[in-house]
Amino acid sequence: MTTSPPAPRTPTIAARATELSKVYGQGDTRVVALDRVSVGFGQSQFTAIMGPSGSGKSTLMHCVAGLDSFSSGSVRVGDVELGALTDRQLTKLRRDKVGFIFQAFNLLPTLTALENITLPMDLAGRTPDKEWLDSVIQMVGLSGRLTHRPAQLSGGQQQRVAVARALASQPEIVFGDEPTGNLDSRAGSEVLGFLRDSVRTLGQTVVMVTHDPVAAAYADRVVFLADGRIVDEMYEPTADAVRELMKSSDAPGFRTS
Ligand SMILES: Nc1ncnc2c1ncn2[C@@H]1O[C@H](COP(=O)(O)OP(=O)(O)O)[C@@H](O)[C@H]1O
Ligand SMILES: [Mg+2]
Repeated sequence: MTTSPPAPRTPTIAARATELSKVYGQGDTRVVALDRVSVGFGQSQFTAIMGPSGSGKSTLMHCVAGLDSFSSGSVRVGDVELGALTDRQLTKLRRDKVGFIFQAFNLLPTLTALENITLPMDLAGRTPDKEWLDSVIQMVGLSGRLTHRPAQLSGGQQQRVAVARALASQPEIVFGDEPTGNLDSRAGSEVLGFLRDSVRTLGQTVVMVTHDPVAAAYADRVVFLADGRIVDEMYEPTADAVRELMKSSDAPGFRTS
């Protein structure tokens, strides 16, 4: 009997940009924020996007997440082509298939932690899957804080609520733009640990913009942008390896900070 070698593991793609360009303004004020970017984000993978300020990180995230329109190329989330959608369909896709975590926690002050977590689903008229919700809440360690309001929680705890809110609806993909930018390093590493856990134990797909090599090291893969183009990528990054790559990069912005 012969045994064939294991097939190479190619992950299913949760979202993909193909030849994606985004141009702001025209004439003297024309800025090419994204210049024919092609990148796929593997399912159940944690990808970090890095690059100097102004390199197009937020624009890439916003376009792939359906938050912003693009000039040319295409974007696919799951099996849906975003370019073919009406505004209404885009809104529905963002609501049903995408989770967001921003630098500012964006919690509603009058709602409890639990109400904040389930708000997007409540607005969509969807009932949360109780088992999933429980495991998310347990993972981010909020079980004892569910009736607290944001003002009664620390910054780190508020961001944990925002992480749970993004995960609650079992979205196909979760995007974070500098999700630990407002946290001290201890709270930041907790939140990064939860994001990584959500990938490892819940199979979530996460894409995170960061400028911090330590944060990037939580990811499975780092994609580097400069001037609206992908200039490099790294698998199984360490903070040191990311720092080295940033130092050796030709992109001037990489050398600062
Ligand atoms: N609304 C906008 N109008 C005009 N230019 C913009 C706008 N948003 C971003 N840009 C420009 O697009 C480029 C990429 O921006 P951005 O994606 O925010 O970069 P990053 O997140 O990497 O700092 C920058 O040159 C920025 O000035
Ligand atoms: Mg940005």
